[in-house]
Amino acid sequence: MSNEPTSTEKDLPGGDTVRVECDDNGIGWVYFNRPDKRNAMNPALNVEMYEVLDALEGDDRVKVVVLTGAGSAWSAGMDLKEYFRETDGKPRWVQNRVRRQGTDWQHHKLINYPKPTIAMVNGWCFGGAFVPLVSCDLAIAAEDAKFGLSEVNWGVTPGNLVTRALAEVIPTRDAMYHIMTGEPFDGRDAARMRLVNEAVPADELRARTIELANKLSSLSQWVVRGAKLGFRHSRLMSWEAAEDFLYAKHDQAILYDEQARTTGMQGFLDDKSYRPGLGINSN
Ligand code: COA
Repeated sequence: MSNEPTSTEKDLPGGDTVRVECDDNGIGWVYFNRPDKRNAMNPALNVEMYEVLDALEGDDRVKVVVLTGAGSAWSAGMDLKEYFRETDGKPRWVQNRVRRQGTDWQHHKLINYPKPTIAMVNGWCFGGAFVPLVSCDLAIAAEDAKFGLSEVNWGVTPGNLVTRALAEVIPTRDAMYHIMTGEPFDGRDAARMRLVNEAVPADELRARTIELANKLSSLSQWVVRGAKLGFRHSRLMSWEAAEDFLYAKHDQAILYDEQARTTGMQGFLDDKSYRPGLGINSN
């Protein structure tokens, strides 16, 4: 069985810097598509990526979004030429707009995205690329993918929200080490420090990602949405606020997805066809 996407729809969003494919399993493959520039994120890509994610949010063909890179890189971070040098000397509002367009999708859009997102890290992943990496719900890397925060070696602190993003997922000792030394690391290290969920050999990366995406798309989309947003947002709340919010998410999933209540409860209580921890019970 081929792991390649099976269809490329003409009416899918995307353009010069972001490519989109949709397969028959409901996976929307979103590619950073500047392979000649190692998929560095320039202002055009940032605008296009926001538009792509916005469009896929309402596209019924897509149940899970996989963010990956064309060519040898996932993304080499912010485009140092177009994002920084070419905005030097421009009015402050221009610089602010360019910055905002980056975080608009890399943080705000992805963090609040209603559909499950998986970062499939196929190669180089540097600097600013850590923000969309952390903002995706799940991440799988090739064992030999190379990661790094090179900024200190150029005499600047890590840019964008990179440092905050690291604090979200990896232990302090690892974060401090890599933020302060700029030492690169590979996919295995990234998995050990939980920057990604797992690392697999490069030739198994796509198959493993499809397997995970299929699991997610087989579940009620309202339930998955409630579960992921419930976790992301409740962590920052008091217990009292979280209780109210999480019950609201719970009720919302049931309200919007009748099936979740009937089949979910029935499967456990009556048919005994599903028991947590034991998986599907075929008896
Ligand atoms: N910004 C702008 N351009 C970048 C870039 C970035 N972050 N990363 C790569 N490029 C460009 C290079 O300038 C080069 O452009 P050119 O062909 O016009 O000269 C092209 O992409 C290919 O890069 P090259 O370095 O030749 O590729 P490589 O395969 O030998 O090395 C990397 C790949 C990722 C190791 C290397 O490009 C690199 O270290 N990039 C910077 C990564 C980084 O520290 N990013 C942090 C930014 S926040």
